[in-house]
Amino acid sequence: MRKYTLSLLLLLVLPLWAQQTSNRYITQTRSILPCPMQLTSGSGSYVFTSRTTFVVEDEEQANLVRSFISLFTQAAGFTPKLVVNKKGDIRLITDASLKSEAYRLQVTPKNITVKAADAKGFFYALQSIRLLLPAAIERSTVTKGIEWNIPSVQVTDEPRFGYRGLMLDVARFFLPKENVLRIIDCMGMLKINKLHFHLVDDNGWRLQIKKYPRLTEVGAWRVDRTDVPFHSRRNPKAGEPTSIGGFYTQEDIKEIVAYAALRQVEVIPEIEMPAHTNSSLAAYPQLACPVIDHFIGVLPGLGGNNANAIYCAGNDSVFTFLQDVIDEVITLFPSRYIHLGGDEAQKMTWEKCPLCQARIQKEKLPNEEELQGYFMKRVAKYVTEKGKEVMGWDELTNSAMPEGAIIFGWQGMGTAALKGAKLGHRFVMTPARILYLIRYQGPQWFEPLTYFGNNTLKDVYDYEPIQKEWKPEYASLLMGVQASLWTEFCDKPEDVDYLLFPRLAALAEGAWTLPENKNWPRFIQSVDSYNAHLAEKGIVYARSMYNIQHTVTPQSGGLRVQQECIRPDVEIRYTLDGSEPTIASALYEQAPILRSALTMKSATFIEGKQMGQTLVLPLIWNKATAKPIRGGRPYERVLTNGVRGSLKQTDFEWCGWDKSDSISFTLDLEKSENLHTFAIGCITNYGMAVHKPAVIRVELSNNNTDFDTAGELNFTSEEIFCEGTFIDNCTIDLGGKKARYVRVTAKGPGECPENHVRPGQESRVLFDEIMID
Ligand code: ACM
Ligand code: ZN
Repeated sequence: MRKYTLSLLLLLVLPLWAQQTSNRYITQTRSILPCPMQLTSGSGSYVFTSRTTFVVEDEEQANLVRSFISLFTQAAGFTPKLVVNKKGDIRLITDASLKSEAYRLQVTPKNITVKAADAKGFFYALQSIRLLLPAAIERSTVTKGIEWNIPSVQVTDEPRFGYRGLMLDVARFFLPKENVLRIIDCMGMLKINKLHFHLVDDNGWRLQIKKYPRLTEVGAWRVDRTDVPFHSRRNPKAGEPTSIGGFYTQEDIKEIVAYAALRQVEVIPEIEMPAHTNSSLAAYPQLACPVIDHFIGVLPGLGGNNANAIYCAGNDSVFTFLQDVIDEVITLFPSRYIHLGGDEAQKMTWEKCPLCQARIQKEKLPNEEELQGYFMKRVAKYVTEKGKEVMGWDELTNSAMPEGAIIFGWQGMGTAALKGAKLGHRFVMTPARILYLIRYQGPQWFEPLTYFGNNTLKDVYDYEPIQKEWKPEYASLLMGVQASLWTEFCDKPEDVDYLLFPRLAALAEGAWTLPENKNWPRFIQSVDSYNAHLAEKGIVYARSMYNIQHTVTPQSGGLRVQQECIRPDVEIRYTLDGSEPTIASALYEQAPILRSALTMKSATFIEGKQMGQTLVLPLIWNKATAKPIRGGRPYERVLTNGVRGSLKQTDFEWCGWDKSDSISFTLDLEKSENLHTFAIGCITNYGMAVHKPAVIRVELSNNNTDFDTAGELNFTSEEIFCEGTFIDNCTIDLGGKKARYVRVTAKGPGECPENHVRPGQESRVLFDEIMID
């Protein structure tokens, strides 16, 4: 494989071209994203006009070109001509020697030649041309005065992986059809070719099934709990109005599938089973195990114990239902795949259900896990007999696997899928820790709330699925990679766009471009070019890549304040006097060490323009600040780093303990001092089962051996398991005693009670800061 030198790589981002538009100047870098296999820049440019003529060989090519030239009709106010087998300046020529999806593109000032073996290749060549045009080509209204040019280039291109996917969860948040279509168009631009459509979950059934009308009459609608975040929402009660939701009619699905097909996107339906099924069980409760005695409604949140309601594996009518559903799914989705879910099935009801237990007996199954194996295999057999291939989440590898099933590796780093690979199963990598776009995409202080840690644009970009320790056959079974967008925290379509863009571009380059051709600084400029197209389409993409992540660490009696931005092309400027940072403020070159309470304000700049949000970083100062902690936990440095945590408990300012951890650490004040009050910051995040400890004890010592108890706080269950998200300063009077060492011990609150949204789950304790006066 040919390798780029750095100078050649830089050529891949084409020169800055200034464009005069009707109302303003735009300066735009043009580039093809994902980065092509090989690109050489020529001189001059080709200009599209009303005289431009596309020459195609057949109706299939004509269809692709019609869709492409409609961009000009809308945005440029003229329509290039399209002819079959005649003379013209842009020729599409079939070259059967090329691979499927591959293309060759030659642009000169006079003409353009596109070669490919199939429609996919021609489509991808046209998308490369699209990204080389002024971004105004995406407008839905005509702009006069733009020269619709593309630079002269020669491109040789083909993808690394055949499966380049996006999973869109439209069950947690129902995304209107128009938004789905726009996302598909943006996928096409990035040469992403699989839309894994997560149509079914506890929180909604989104697909009209004619034989079972209640699936959408009942299953598509849930109670309105939008006043609190997803993970804090209480279960519905019988008879409550259900106003939140929506579904796609079969006509909608046909439209989505056809729109996607024109953009070479295969829509793969996911019909979840046996768990994540409260929406269909709300519609048809007879499909649940008969031992369930609570009301089953479409869940507005996690569901607590109600999420344990799953299809009964002992009831044959469940299989009849699923077969009927699959029959309609097959008529709607031409994809060769059906994804059957299979993840996160809690089997408590199966353990108690006489029908499930009878099935275990009859089929001589060793346990409930293998009952899931039986369930998935039985449905998979039906699917494969209908000529389709089965896909499923990596839990399918926990029991006997359906023959030929394709496994989606999501847990941890996706490695559970390798259990399938060892048995010869193909797989797709979508590891939660990197490719779940629900996670924070930038410094958390600036981001809308979600569950966990960070998956930045750079994290997604840097992901390499093939590991050195893999046997070669695993790599050959890897079909590709997928970004998965779960929508728990989306309440409007813009929230989905925000999480998707621009991280989808990073996924696209990982899926298409050879690792040796990847280059972060070059990619970032390509992203700017792609983002310009998104903006013209009316998409508000995330600018998180411009925000600053701080890391404050006690060092030499001061606080070392490190500031980082994932974009290499920004400069960080900061102030320490509370004023707003400007281009004239101090340039951040190395981390300053600060020694007093103050507010540091910083921001990123490019060419004098502020790019990200201003980071406001207040540093507090007290007797504990910058002093060492002796406890042995990795994050304990945050307890004396002068920075209070935010309401996001994963913002890297909180030190946490799980159930089995003993909470005990000692602060060394480095000299004996008179101590008056002790306070420790403690966060409650009800939805995440983060709560105050039951006991906090403070002991003092002058020699780090003999400690005297100085005070103790005890909290009752009612005080601990409060709803909401808030921070308490838990305070103890130290009475002016003199000491050098302060030992803190605490006892976790234990399991969340039955009426909690996470009943029975062990709570966690998190502290952000010790404050001593
Ligand atoms: C999953 O995240 N439960 C597939
Ligand atoms: Zn059952």
